[in-house]
This record gives sequence, C-alpha cells and structure tokens, in this order.
Amino acid sequence: MRKTIVAGNWKMNKLPSEAAALIADIRKATNDGDCGVEVVVCVPFTAIPAAAEALEGSSIGLGAQNMHWKASGAYTGEISADMLKDLGVQYVILGHSERRQYFAETDETVNLKLKAALAAGLTPIVCVGETLEERETGKMQDVIVRQVTEDLAGCQEDFEKIVIAYEPVWAIGTGKTATSTQAQEVHALIRATLAKMNPAQAEKVRIQYGGSMKPENAGDLMAKPDIDGGLIGGAALVAASFAAIVEAGK
Ligand code: 13P
Repeated sequence: MRKTIVAGNWKMNKLPSEAAALIADIRKATNDGDCGVEVVVCVPFTAIPAAAEALEGSSIGLGAQNMHWKASGAYTGEISADMLKDLGVQYVILGHSERRQYFAETDETVNLKLKAALAAGLTPIVCVGETLEERETGKMQDVIVRQVTEDLAGCQEDFEKIVIAYEPVWAIGTGKTATSTQAQEVHALIRATLAKMNPAQAEKVRIQYGGSMKPENAGDLMAKPDIDGGLIGGAALVAASFAAIVEAGK
C-alpha cells in the first residue's frame, strides 16, 4: 500500500513572513498534517528557515524546488543538498518542466541531481511530462519513457525512496487538467517503465499527478490505481484549497 503524498510547489512566491503565515493556516486546515496523507510544502530557498520554524511540531514535510549536484565549489548562485539538509529540508523537487524549459535542465543533470539528493538522504520528487506539441505529434510515450529511464538511471536500488511527479506541461498553470483517464494511462506507463528497470521496487514508487490540480478534480485523479498523490502549484498557495486537496487524497 503506497501512502498518498500531496506536495505544494510554491514556485517563486512568498516572502519569509508570508510563508510563515501560509504555513500557520495550512497547519490549522490539515490537523498539522497528521491526516493519513503525507503533506509537504516546497518553498523558495529564501523562505526555508522561516518555513522550518513555522512547521516545528507538525507532521508537514519541508521541501526545496531545486539543488545542485555538487557538494560544494565554484558554482555561483547554486545550493547543495547538504545546505538544504542543514536547514531541515527533507524533500527536493528535481527536473520541474519550468527548469527544463527556462533553465536548460536536461535528463543528464536531473540524473546527477537525483543521485546527489539520494546520497544526502533527501526525498527527491522527480518531475516528468510531455509538452502539448509532443502529445499532439504522438511522441508522448517516447518522451515519458526516455525521461524516466534517463533521469533515474543507476538509481534502481533506491526506487522506493523516489517520488515521481507526472506533470503534462500543457496542464501546468493553464487550468487545463489531464482527465483522470489520460493521467492514469501515463502513470501506468511510468510504472511499467520502472518495472523494466527494477521489478521488485516499481510497485513501491509513488507517482504524483501535477498540472492544474484543484479540489474539484483531485478526488477523481487520486482515485486512479497508479495516481498516488499530487504536486500542486497555484492551488497550494491558498490554505483552504490545498487542505481540500489533501482531504481528497485520504
Ligand atoms: P499548477 O497546479 O499551478 O498547474 O502547477 C502545477 C505544477 O507545476 C506543480 O509543480
């Protein structure tokens, strides 16, 4: 039985004081995250210390949205896994489509980051997903299989520690959600790809859906057999809607 995991990806939103206020509201709305669902907030780097303090005594996990794969060195502007760990971070989003699209992240760098995150004991949330053009030209399956195979290469023995998020790029921030049937089809493809790499652990990997997930569609999506939670953008910035999605995941 896989435990449902609902994570908020706050993206580039919230000053530290605003993050603390939002977390206080999320704590109230989710019984401090003690609700049978794994609840996580992935905040901007600058809000991490305030968020860590605001989360103290709750069961809500703290995540970052990116990291570098090297431990230290001349990498101006970058943040290492140990730097995150030292601040109390437990999760890290890797390979989000916005990073692939705007910051030239590749399957190769996602793979390097994944290995570094696992080595540091962070729980990685690896994002995969096709663009609209790729879907419309019949390349969705190839893209998903390539991303899963290359992003997770060499990490087969650690599959159960990895969370995958299927985020169709065309559904992110557009209000257009994949139907639960469309999403389940891709989630099953992801799991089948994992099973080829390590049959013993594929069933243990949690696969979240992300892309305009809202209280209204969350229950339908998470009821599907291979959809084990959600990675929430816009709706995670409002405590009531984030909590309603958590509720739907029970
Ligand atoms: P939205 O929920 O705003 O579509 O964003 C999804 C996302 O990118 C989560 O990582």
